[in-house]
Amino acid sequence: MNLKENEIHLWHIDQSDFDLPELQENRLDWLSKTELARFNRYLFDRHRKQLLLGKILVRSVLSRYDETVQPKDWNFTQNDYGKPAIDPAQQKRPLFFNISHSGDKLVLAVASSEFIGVDIEQCCKPRRVSKISSRYFSTKEAAELLAMPEQSQLSRFYQLWTLKEAYIKACGLGLAIPLQHFSYSFPGNERLVIEFNTAREDDPKSWQLWQLSVNKGYKLALALKTSNASAQNYNISSWQVTDLNEVKRIDSTILRKS
Ligand SMILES: CC(C)(COP(=O)(O)OP(=O)(O)OC[C@H]1O[C@@H](n2cnc3c(N)ncnc32)[C@H](O)[C@@H]1OP(=O)(O)O)[C@@H](O)C(=O)NCCC(=O)NCCS
Repeated sequence: MNLKENEIHLWHIDQSDFDLPELQENRLDWLSKTELARFNRYLFDRHRKQLLLGKILVRSVLSRYDETVQPKDWNFTQNDYGKPAIDPAQQKRPLFFNISHSGDKLVLAVASSEFIGVDIEQCCKPRRVSKISSRYFSTKEAAELLAMPEQSQLSRFYQLWTLKEAYIKACGLGLAIPLQHFSYSFPGNERLVIEFNTAREDDPKSWQLWQLSVNKGYKLALALKTSNASAQNYNISSWQVTDLNEVKRIDSTILRKS
């Protein structure tokens, strides 16, 4: 499978399409020793299934881009904050990924930039919007959110949550980046804008950000840092993995972008 410099590929899985005993029987040997130890530590089947499916997804998808490496032969490294990447010894060309899980969904983003971040969240759960947003969002984001009609607040809350997670995951630093150090705003119906405060040295022009349509009850955000400012036109393609050996192309509807 080819991945051009201006492409991002998204690979989706619905966990309910898969059966844990069958996965264990056919794919448990794909896990590394560390991954298997983590699998065995989990007490609940739902955690085991999410872990195993996530690893199967990453390994099988990466082998689509480099068929010389079998899925179970991929080795991974992690940065100090836990972001996984392909072992440099196996990197024949720039190939990077980031995965997110929530509820029934898993989504894997693949790009040729190391700074790729994806976040999916199940957004049906009511949240203490006012309390969480004043604590975790920037003052501006929280004020704009709380000024919205009450029935729109939960949707904006999850929109911000996924976008903020996508950015910190793309940077690879997780919650080591204080979430108040950058802000999103949503001019018009299709745009989104990121701003950094003085405590965070970053440039909005380096970033491409998207909010994508996904099944009802979920929000999905994607962030990518680009060294090449002229590469403004990224193409996003998506696939649904429906079976261990079957994938189908699905729409990548962009709701908003930077
Ligand atoms: C770990 C973190 C990077 C993402 O957590 P999350 O949103 O709960 O989880 P997701 O399912 O989206 O992502 C988990 C995956 O991200 C990857 N990941 C782990 N650390 C990462 C990092 N520093 N940077 C990027 N990706 C990372 C891993 O592949 C992990 O999956 P795996 O453990 O199965 O391999 C971090 O941002 C975090 O702990 N977030 C907590 C959520 C939260 O409270 N957010 C507040 C928003 S208001």
